[in-house]
Amino acid sequence: MTTTSQPATNKSAKPTDQNDTIERLLAAMSLEEKIGQMSLAQPGEGPPEKTLGPLIRSGKIGAIINVVDPQTIRELQRMASEESPHGIPLLVGRDVIHGFKTVMPIPLGQAATWNPQVIQEGAARAAEEAASVGINWTYAPMMDIARDPRWGRIAESFGEDVYLSCELAAAMVKGFQTGGLDSPTSVAACAKHFVGYGAAESGRDYATTNISEHELHNVYLPPFKAAVEAGVASVMTSFSDLDGIPATAHESLLRGLLREQWSFEGIVVSDWHSIPELCTHGFSGDEADAAIQSVRAGVDLEMASETYNANLPEAVASGAVSEALIDESVRRLLQLKMDLGLFADPYLRSTDQATGPQGEAKETCYQAAVESLVLLKNDNKTLPLSNDRKPKVAVIGPLAEAGYEQLGTWIFDGDPSQSISALAAIRDHLKDGGEVLYDRALETSRSRDSEGIERAGQLASQADVIVLCLGEESILSGEAHSRANIDLPGAQVELVHKMRELGKPVVAVIMAGRPLTLSNVIDQLDAVIYAWHPGTMGGTAIADVLFGQVAPSGKLPVTFPRAVGQIPIYYNAKNTGKPPTPELVTYIDDIPVEAPQTSLGMSAFHLDVDHRPLFVFGHGLSYTEFSYQNMTLSRSVIHPGESIDIRVDLANIGDRDATEIAQLYVRDPVASLTRPVRELKGFQRIQVAAGSTQTIEFRLHTDALKFYKQGQGWIIEPGLFEIWVGGDSNASLHATFEVVDG
Ligand code: GLC
Repeated sequence: MTTTSQPATNKSAKPTDQNDTIERLLAAMSLEEKIGQMSLAQPGEGPPEKTLGPLIRSGKIGAIINVVDPQTIRELQRMASEESPHGIPLLVGRDVIHGFKTVMPIPLGQAATWNPQVIQEGAARAAEEAASVGINWTYAPMMDIARDPRWGRIAESFGEDVYLSCELAAAMVKGFQTGGLDSPTSVAACAKHFVGYGAAESGRDYATTNISEHELHNVYLPPFKAAVEAGVASVMTSFSDLDGIPATAHESLLRGLLREQWSFEGIVVSDWHSIPELCTHGFSGDEADAAIQSVRAGVDLEMASETYNANLPEAVASGAVSEALIDESVRRLLQLKMDLGLFADPYLRSTDQATGPQGEAKETCYQAAVESLVLLKNDNKTLPLSNDRKPKVAVIGPLAEAGYEQLGTWIFDGDPSQSISALAAIRDHLKDGGEVLYDRALETSRSRDSEGIERAGQLASQADVIVLCLGEESILSGEAHSRANIDLPGAQVELVHKMRELGKPVVAVIMAGRPLTLSNVIDQLDAVIYAWHPGTMGGTAIADVLFGQVAPSGKLPVTFPRAVGQIPIYYNAKNTGKPPTPELVTYIDDIPVEAPQTSLGMSAFHLDVDHRPLFVFGHGLSYTEFSYQNMTLSRSVIHPGESIDIRVDLANIGDRDATEIAQLYVRDPVASLTRPVRELKGFQRIQVAAGSTQTIEFRLHTDALKFYKQGQGWIIEPGLFEIWVGGDSNASLHATFEVVDG
């Protein structure tokens, strides 16, 4: 049974001896030494012992980033512990976003698994590998709600949905912090980027965000609250300005909401140079101002810039900043180091060898990869391919043999030599019979030379079936890599059309860091598997699904637009006063000249594109069919504070066992604020044997029906509620119940 209530906030009291140590250190430290603890530095050019050593010895920094050699980290920790003024060990940070050496699918791909358990496991494996070199802090999970696939960082997100992002962010936090912060195989997690970064205008990274208070609380903040409730050790501020106030200096959100209302006790770290960037925003007059505004807002640690060291001593001396405020930040930083076990043993994590891709890590990465694959289309049951017939398979495209690219964005430490490519795995599947013909056709996903397409066409004409490996290289998404046109880049569309002309079954496996607009190829393809960037074990996962060893179970965590002009397009949208009717189709070509001025469809649509997405949130096919019947509710009327149990019969009406992700959606059709037409409020992964039926149950608490309203906080309003259960956000099995007061 899936419940939808969130775990209670769990605040642990700190042992007095820890407090004593911290207070003793604070009393002994000079103001400059305290401010040094509030600074994080990168190694820059040259050996870190030379570039960071002097800063550590003089107590000018308390944290480092982007040092990964185990011996170097050990030496820097030794310097901090033995040669700095108070022997305070270092926070050692790294972007371990979806794996360290062994790489999981990108977070957007992990979200397509709808499997908190495998995500938690993957984060735990990543923490183990990272901690083995001495890293004790990662800058993940990123939980920015992302409704704009032009935005390159959608790749790092869990997609567009609040509930799914809450569940998966909490799972990843728990995974990184497995065994507690003082475990030698855990790392401190970091909820980022607080807050609203994904709403950047036109999907341009770092661009302005304008988010209403209602959207902020109902959409963008909940995943951060879930992370805080899961015990996340740190929060990172966003680069972006939020309705005119840069997140890094947003005192009411950082102090007012995060610390006072949510009782967050961990540390807040700026993003890279986001403090001096307050001047670029035009929010601070100079770096002294920026430093003062940031520390007042509650930023404990400055990442990679030096405004705190350079300006806070004077700010305290002038009274612009109280030393009590500095002490508050330093207390939190020392507490995190204490929690990480660093005072007890600075070398707790620095084993002598880096944990490379281990069997266990690879197994988890494989499970996540195979569950992340989304079967978007499968006409005429083109898939699964059959080994038995020993087919001649043409593997064509620039991403078939792309061990580095398939790792995806943010993999500084990934080991591409460990990657299993789609080509290698398909060859392995056919090693006992059948044949693989291969041509990459295009040098890169962006290539426009079509002579390779001709050559590939010649080769593919000899095959029984064509498997196209298309998409984007990893660098075409991620930070600072947004795209205004999200079609398949280069001459890939031409390649698809060429393959279609050969009159053979054409399957596409698409690797990308975002939803791509596929309208110009989807009808040319018999089957499409969306693989995101599937990580180290991506090829094995792809081949196992292609040949039916595993049935695909992935579901879209994000809507796929037909055209970039539809963006933002997401399922949990408002109804508006003129919603397009389902049957409305575009007819721009049918409009006569001198057409009289009319209001046309009298609804919220575009003249030149179907108003529906190409694929809806939650979509994903299998190699079998599922049907949802007989929804029953435990009650038809409930009071605030109570729950309702929803039961549904889920039948596997096909001929093979498979896993389905059943989804529960809710609507509050009439409220004092307009509410989304549907909202995900529960999901379950269920393995259902062919021909059998299982009764699944959801428990829905009225807390899940609350919404935030300015001036009133989180409220539930009595009235009718609608629910749907099904295999995607278009679920049709429907029922209603009522919430009554008193
Ligand atoms: C960045 C990113 C942030 C990352 C940090 C450290 O610019 O915005 O997500 O964790 O720098 O690399």
